[in-house]
Amino acid sequence: MLILGIDTSCDDTAASVVEDGVKIISNIVSSQTDIHTKYGGIVPELASRRHIEMIWPVVDEALKSAGIKFEGLSAIAVCHGPGLIGSLLVGCSFAKALCFSKNIPLVAVNHLEGHVFSAFLEDPRPEFPFISLVASGGHTSLYRVDGFGRYTELGRTRDDAAGEAYDKVSKLLGLGYPGGPVIDKLASEGNPGAIDFPRAYLPESFDFSFSGVKTAVLHYVRAAISSQPSALSDIAASFQACVIDVLVRKTEWAIRKEGIRRVTLSGGVSANSELRRRMKKMGEERDVEIFIPSVSLCTDNAAMIAAAGFHYFNAGRLAGMDLNPKAYLPL
Ligand code: KG4
Ligand code: ZN
Repeated sequence: MLILGIDTSCDDTAASVVEDGVKIISNIVSSQTDIHTKYGGIVPELASRRHIEMIWPVVDEALKSAGIKFEGLSAIAVCHGPGLIGSLLVGCSFAKALCFSKNIPLVAVNHLEGHVFSAFLEDPRPEFPFISLVASGGHTSLYRVDGFGRYTELGRTRDDAAGEAYDKVSKLLGLGYPGGPVIDKLASEGNPGAIDFPRAYLPESFDFSFSGVKTAVLHYVRAAISSQPSALSDIAASFQACVIDVLVRKTEWAIRKEGIRRVTLSGGVSANSELRRRMKKMGEERDVEIFIPSVSLCTDNAAMIAAAGFHYFNAGRLAGMDLNPKAYLPL
């Protein structure tokens, strides 16, 4: 069964063909980093305009490289939220028009559910139940996943998402957008113990908070102008250590509380080399299975939307032509 997935939730135009929810046949992502970099972040209006230009070429390429035509599709799965409303509108309108004109069933997938299901696109695949940490530019949440459609949110960020903290710290250090990859690289050359930035563990809760560490970096940088500043790489490594310590520790707590020995990691921040290393190390020490997709499946893509969409289609949960995107859409 072949599903075409479409995701335009943020600043990537993505389309992918996936077989039976697990096998990637094609996976195309058109990045918009070039147009947003000079503004230090995503400009929503520019993002939706670029989606309009790119949606057809990207979908066409996904079908061509899969070697199929619309007739070969069982359904089209589109991300309908959460995300930037103008961006989501492009993907949803395009998917509805395709389904209407080609008489193909439509399914609607939550972007966060997509990130959770990215774990099924590569071997080895997790069995249910598992703990899922989704850390991206817009969200940072811990879920208990008992099956398709059976998600319990254990905690979420109370302020900035982990990726948002990376992006903001990168901007204030003058390192550009997106911040995650550049801080990841710089941190590998720095000392994570150089500066003692605060870690918000929020005991008694699985919630996260990353705005404090971001502000601490800001104060440090301002004060450092008149004193002897640490190397940029030390600031990056010390900031990153705070974020990763909290993400790993909270995941450990969730494992213990829920008594589940399987963890999946997804969302753009799980592309981080140090987070991947630390999470795998924690898994080895605690005898817990850790599932981390390849980097291209951690960041936004449409294969994850098709993977989750497969289960909607199987369950007969189709969307109608009245489908509207939602900027805020909890899992
Ligand atoms: O999942 P994603 O592609 O889009 C959203 O749904 O938000 O995540 C993008 C976020 C950005 O904040 C970016 O800075 C962060 O993921 N990111 C990283 C890395 N690569 C991307 N953060 C830390 N280390 C990385 N290597
Ligand atoms: Zn995402």
